[in-house]
Amino acid sequence: MTLPNGSAPELARQAAARAYELDRRHVFHSWSAQAHRTPMAITAAQGCYVWDGDGNRLLDFSSQMVNTNIGHQHPKVVAAVQEQAAKLCTVAPQHVNDARSEAARLIAERTPGELDKIFFTNGGADAVEHAVRLARLHTGRYKVLSRYRSYHGGTETAINLTGDPRRWPNDHGNSGVVHFFGPFLYRSQFHASTETEEAERALAHLEQTMVFEGPDTIAAVVLESIPGTAGIMVPPPGYMAGVRALCDKYGVVFIADEVMSGFGRTGKWFAIEHFEGVVPDLLTFAKGVNSGYVPLGGVAISPAIAATFDDRPYPGG
Ligand SMILES: Cc1ncc(COP(=O)(O)O)c(C=O)c1O
Repeated sequence: MTLPNGSAPELARQAAARAYELDRRHVFHSWSAQAHRTPMAITAAQGCYVWDGDGNRLLDFSSQMVNTNIGHQHPKVVAAVQEQAAKLCTVAPQHVNDARSEAARLIAERTPGELDKIFFTNGGADAVEHAVRLARLHTGRYKVLSRYRSYHGGTETAINLTGDPRRWPNDHGNSGVVHFFGPFLYRSQFHASTETEEAERALAHLEQTMVFEGPDTIAAVVLESIPGTAGIMVPPPGYMAGVRALCDKYGVVFIADEVMSGFGRTGKWFAIEHFEGVVPDLLTFAKGVNSGYVPLGGVAISPAIAATFDDRPYPGG
């Protein structure tokens, strides 16, 4: 039986063995002690399945990096990528292009509230970098708050926002990020026994953190609408609305990181929609926007923050 990409199994096995050998010789892997890796080869993928180097078909429970929201090799997206590649492969960002204009319109139609301006990036981490930069320039403040048990990306500010041990070797105490505890009743930091108590106490803790850090020094609070990498910790009712209210009270930008939770991953276009009436000022996306078929991410921007850069250049690209 041939693989879905047309390869014969024996040839696929030989190709995988060669790929493995070259990988071990030349590829430097992320987040890894290089000598201790035995990475799995993937030779083909279709829908929710991948094929390994020995020809086994495996159910891709991880959706790779939790990004193949429409599955592997969706024929419509593959055809669209091929068509665009044949038509026009690259233009510099200052130009207008029909594909980008249409993508921005389609995304803006689906983002909540009036998040209608889209800044495109190459992936999730740089979307987060730009969201923080937009917030800092908009507010004139530097500090950014994010929760322990979170993941926001591998680049400099994004890894410092991240609330897991991968941050530690990258944290030199100068990132301007302050961490706080988010709500999670199962392992409550607040000695809570109900969701209501957990939400109230987590909000009181966040407000105390803001007050003691100095609200006038805080540019943004960055939160995954539903945390992903650190555990699927769905915020209890009232928490996200409370965060929105605290941000309004202290003039702090609310950044919803929807890189993992966006584009249908939680059953709505964006996970923030589970919390009625809560609209962030900035929303970051990547992964599910195109299931990672080509690198793409971005930031959806509120009218007030977009207006900051009407007459003043945005210093980033
Ligand atoms: C919530 C969140 N933000 C940011 C990122 C970083 O995205 P990327 O890997 O595309 O840079 C991730 C990746 O897992 C993520 O889950």
